[in-house]
Amino acid sequence: MAILKIARMGHPILRRQADPVSAASAPEIQRLITDMTETLADAGGVGLAAPQVHESLRLFIFHVPTSRSDTGQAIPLRAIINPVITPLSEDEDKVLGWEGCLSIPGLRAAVPRHARIRLTGQTATGAPLDEELSGFAARVVQHETDHLDGVLYPARMEDFRFFGYNEELDRNPMALPEEM
Ligand code: NI
Repeated sequence: MAILKIARMGHPILRRQADPVSAASAPEIQRLITDMTETLADAGGVGLAAPQVHESLRLFIFHVPTSRSDTGQAIPLRAIINPVITPLSEDEDKVLGWEGCLSIPGLRAAVPRHARIRLTGQTATGAPLDEELSGFAARVVQHETDHLDGVLYPARMEDFRFFGYNEELDRNPMALPEEM
């Protein structure tokens, strides 16, 4: 196990289109998932994509703690390989929600995302995956999948008033508009 170095915004690996994972069960992929799990636990946060740890591969891990869950139901940590997202809501029905990113430390912003998505791909064991996600889980998966396409959350923002340092926003909470 190892704690990996996290690339920060500005590093070219975060702007690259990542390569598909050819064999989920390969030892190097399993080791990467283990190391990313340890790295995320050390850094704190809900998700981590392989390009953030300098591996340009289509793979991410995420979890949803009870405190962030819309349903009150936690999602334990899981790895998603070669994810493909299909929006299940209209573009004009995107919802605003707060996001941070381990590659943009200390900041957070309100980012519009699809409220519901279909996620296909593979699990950590290489088994096929096909499920529907909504709310915060859908948001996290959209954020992490963006990393695999070289997209960081500021590129998804539409209103830069809702962007700030965590310390300031914690001191001065900002309500988000219901309608975008
Ligand atoms: Ni991120």
